[in-house]
Amino acid sequence: MSQQFDVLVIGGGPGGYVAAIRAAQLGFKTACCESNPYADPKGEPRLGGTCLNVGCIPSKALLHTSHLFEEAGHSFADQGISVGTPKIDVSKMIARKAKIVDQLTGGIKGLFKKNKVTLLNGHGSFVGQVAEGWQVKVGEEIVTAKQVIVATGSSARHLPGIPVDNKLVCDNVGALDIDAVPGKLAVIGAGVIGLEMGSVWRRVGAEVTVLEALPDFLAAADQDVAKEALKVFKKQGLNIQLGVSIGEVKVGKKGVTVAYKDKDGNDQKLEADRLIVSVGRVPNTDGLNAEAVGLKITGRGMIEVDGHCRTNLPGVWAVGDVVRGPMLAHKAMEEAVMVAELMAGQAGHCNFDTIPWVIYTSPEIAWVGKTEQQLKAEGVAYKVGKIPFMANGRALGMGDPTGFVKMLADAATDRILGVHIIGANASELISEAVVAMEFAGCSEDLARICHAHPTLSEVVHEAALACDKRPLHF
Ligand code: FAD
Ligand code: NAI
Repeated sequence: MSQQFDVLVIGGGPGGYVAAIRAAQLGFKTACCESNPYADPKGEPRLGGTCLNVGCIPSKALLHTSHLFEEAGHSFADQGISVGTPKIDVSKMIARKAKIVDQLTGGIKGLFKKNKVTLLNGHGSFVGQVAEGWQVKVGEEIVTAKQVIVATGSSARHLPGIPVDNKLVCDNVGALDIDAVPGKLAVIGAGVIGLEMGSVWRRVGAEVTVLEALPDFLAAADQDVAKEALKVFKKQGLNIQLGVSIGEVKVGKKGVTVAYKDKDGNDQKLEADRLIVSVGRVPNTDGLNAEAVGLKITGRGMIEVDGHCRTNLPGVWAVGDVVRGPMLAHKAMEEAVMVAELMAGQAGHCNFDTIPWVIYTSPEIAWVGKTEQQLKAEGVAYKVGKIPFMANGRALGMGDPTGFVKMLADAATDRILGVHIIGANASELISEAVVAMEFAGCSEDLARICHAHPTLSEVVHEAALACDKRPLHF
């Protein structure tokens, strides 16, 4: 007899494992199947998906180490600390990252045990529907579940004619495991991964060239922020070429040659020891056997869902990177909780207007809500409060006064429409803006809140005051 569950989650990334835990907490007999290619030495699947294994967590570990390395080499001396010329031990940096990944992926297994989620080792694919629910093949076994949550995530998009071996030519998987500092590193795509991984390897000594197809830098960000970021990154030594068109990529024994046309249409050749291809991600729907049950997939390969993550099939849901919306771990987790709560008859909800974005470069970039260019395009009347970190005592004390906070509020109602931060700890500072916007707050609400002194959060406070043209310290 096949195993029967109330809920089967396909995929154990942030969308899947959170959905499974929340469903189990709500009293459902829950299983989660995972076919992770990053199996642990015991041959068991590793939970945590892209995020924990080859995404958010390992990239942030490398960003931290490389940031400290750069500080030691460039900023310590300004504060009277001499440490000589720092040296980087790449294998140690990578081993530290791997240990963090092991700890966290193992931790999810512990959470499954604690919450009584059954972990099934194997690839999940739809078989059909019977009276008891949906039948899904997991490995060699057929499992039946009343409800199924598809959380199969995404994989790196590759470019035709550029085979990724994750040695000389890397996607995110190889880029997080480079075993020596490349003398020259080429990156195709100046998006989030290109900038984060480009920063890591530049900081530890690589000469990094980033080739971006679009003429605008960070087109999704507020263009004020994007302009400042481009200026700072170029000053740091990232060679960012916009508006390029990639031609032939030749892979030799020891390196790669990337032919491209620059923004003026001139032929260029870039020789590099390694190449990272970071041109976006594609949803994982192949192998789900979606056709067997008539699960609708969009032309872009995503599972079609409504605002509540319901697919076209009753009792089948889909969350995270495999559906529309930003491919972010916290968005996947929000959707996961919403779906589990809706299944339990609760009022699950996900506010897509207040999902924050963070790019963990230095300075960090973070935003929530609308950009100034979006408000202009929508014809919304708005006011702007913009304050530089240069005016903030804490930022100066930290030796990190680059960037600014920019708040956009409705001209008539004062409701906060967007907050854009480039600067130290932007990833943490953005939370205040998210909370304010979730509660439909106004710039005056933030202006009237007492912010601890001296903190970077005072710049958010001042930006709120500046919306009403009354900053106190600028
Ligand atoms: P995934 O994490 O991709 O998990 C899907 C899981 O399903 C995988 O484990 C896969 O093996 C499994 N699976 C697939 N098909 C099947 C099947 N048929 N049967 C069984 N199992 C299956 N986001 C952030 O919010 N912050 C960051 O800082 C950040 N940094 C990133 C850095 C990098 C380098 C990358 C690549 C991504 C980063 N992301 C970040 C994005 C984030 O990793 C994803 O948005 C997030 O992992 C999506 O979660 P998910 O559960 O939808 O999918
Ligand atoms: P991305 O969508 O952020 O950036 C891809 C870039 O490549 C774009 O600027 C695009 O114009 C460019 N591009 C596309 N085709 C190209 C071509 N042929 N030649 C040159 N440039 C080309 O995608 P990326 O960086 O691969 O990251 C994937 C996703 O992973 C992100 O969108 C994000 O959802 C997630 N992520 C999130 C992070 C975070 O939250 N800090 C960190 C890293 C990834």
